[in-house]
Amino acid sequence: MSLLQSADLILTDAEFRMFRDFFRDVCGLSFGEDSRFLLEKRLARRVRELELGSFRSYYYMLRRDESGEQELAAVIDELTTNETYFFRERNQLEALVGEVLPELLDRRVRGGPPISIWSAGCSSGEEPYTIVMMAMEAGYVPGRDFRVYASDISRRVLHKARQGIYRPASFRETEPHVQRRHFNEKDGHWQISDDVKRHVMFSRLNLLDPSRLGLLGTMDVILCRNVIIYFDIETKRQVIDVFSEKLQSGGYLLLGHAESLINVTSAFELRHLKRDLVYRKPLPGEERTDPWHAAARAAIRVTDTDGRGER
Ligand SMILES: C[S@@+](CC[C@H](N)C(=O)[O-])C[C@H]1O[C@@H](n2cnc3c(N)ncnc32)[C@H](O)[C@@H]1O
Repeated sequence: MSLLQSADLILTDAEFRMFRDFFRDVCGLSFGEDSRFLLEKRLARRVRELELGSFRSYYYMLRRDESGEQELAAVIDELTTNETYFFRERNQLEALVGEVLPELLDRRVRGGPPISIWSAGCSSGEEPYTIVMMAMEAGYVPGRDFRVYASDISRRVLHKARQGIYRPASFRETEPHVQRRHFNEKDGHWQISDDVKRHVMFSRLNLLDPSRLGLLGTMDVILCRNVIIYFDIETKRQVIDVFSEKLQSGGYLLLGHAESLINVTSAFELRHLKRDLVYRKPLPGEERTDPWHAAARAAIRVTDTDGRGER
């Protein structure tokens, strides 16, 4: 154990900027002045554990090809925000299973491949597992009607996702009978049933890594919820461009409720489904509604309380 105490490790302005730019470029994580102390605390822990003595040595270690890659994975585990739970933003998932999936299956050529759904930034797996549970309960057959792929940059959360063992906090939005049907309780934890678990394919993927993204095929639906909210505008554009490239025409992009594509891209149209708003990549030659216009109308409808409806 190093004798170096946290008081000895103060992140200078120049060091803060170095790490901030590095993490933004490598994985999109953005640290403003308000999260500087948090960054300092987490990095200081790694510097002490590795007995490196200074933030600068740690920075150079992260930039090295071989040792740096391992350490980068470890520090990303510390820096990412992985909050998630089953049935999060339920309306949107109901729209996916009740409206998007039937539409895509209707359009599929007879005997065509299953509808591919990618949960990008899946954290510990609650989101992709929820999709499988809901689609199965609606009568769809995994492997025949749909397939779920899930990825995240953090090794720690992916390990948890593959284990499929959850604490009660993950079930804050789950109906008890659904929990009992798909999980087995053991010592206060809940293990997901194999019937659901085996239908999600997990992999480690950095959404900013072009070499790995190039290996991915095209998808019918991409969910990237509560992930780009942590990225700056340039990084958002970069990731959304990748999604636009990876989506089939007529495919859907589902973002978190606090996220939108305003100022990011006009490559998608905003669709008003019965249960939620979603983005769609238009079919070739299809007339596209202006996403700005549609988003503005949606906002007016929500805030318009004088009873005159849409203006
Ligand atoms: C707040 S969680 C969202 C989980 C889930 N989508 C939901 O809405 O409940 C955000 C996840 O995005 C992942 N993430 C952040 N940056 C990433 C990147 N560059 N590539 C892939 N995943 C990333 C984090 O590791 C984290 O698990």
